[in-house]
Amino acid sequence: MLNLFIHPKRIFLVLFVCFLAFSIWIYAIPFFNPTPYSKKELHLVAEGRLVWQKYNCHTCHQLYGLGGYLGPDLTNVYSRTANNEAYIKGIIKSGVKQMPAFEISDDEMKALLHFLKNVDATGTSNPQDYQPEIIGTFSLEKK
Ligand code: HEC
Repeated sequence: MLNLFIHPKRIFLVLFVCFLAFSIWIYAIPFFNPTPYSKKELHLVAEGRLVWQKYNCHTCHQLYGLGGYLGPDLTNVYSRTANNEAYIKGIIKSGVKQMPAFEISDDEMKALLHFLKNVDATGTSNPQDYQPEIIGTFSLEKK
């Protein structure tokens, strides 16, 4: 009886059905959880990421705790500072301590700010706030 059940073909079939169901579930998630961002907004965020890379901000700054360590983590800089956009613009245009001033065009600055805003909305910088879950993902529970 047991031998009949653990036949390789059956095991393959069960695993294949699990794989199929899991794949359908994963691909269906976006349909049930539409993103709160418009297409235009997402385009700006993607462009902002390219600006972030073009000027090598990541060599000195971390996002979500990853990156260079000369400057502070910028994951939540967008919401941390009062009058955030003016503050961030000012720092980028005039530099501070070891950070050089960057000559960034207005369009690039706009995209970069959208990127930082999006990063801020999607995570926190302190890994000590991350709570590992049994399924291998993390939940964000602020202590
Ligand atoms: C050469 C290293 C370096 C690079 C490259 C660099 N920064 Fe900085 N940045 C720093 C340092 C160091 C500080 C912190 C100065 C201080 O202690 O006040 C800083 C501070 C900042 C702050 C203020 C952070 C806060 O917590 O108040 C912002 C915002 C910022 N940088 C954005 C950027 C962006 C955007 C880029 C890319 C265009 C960039 N930085 C590239 C070194 C760098």
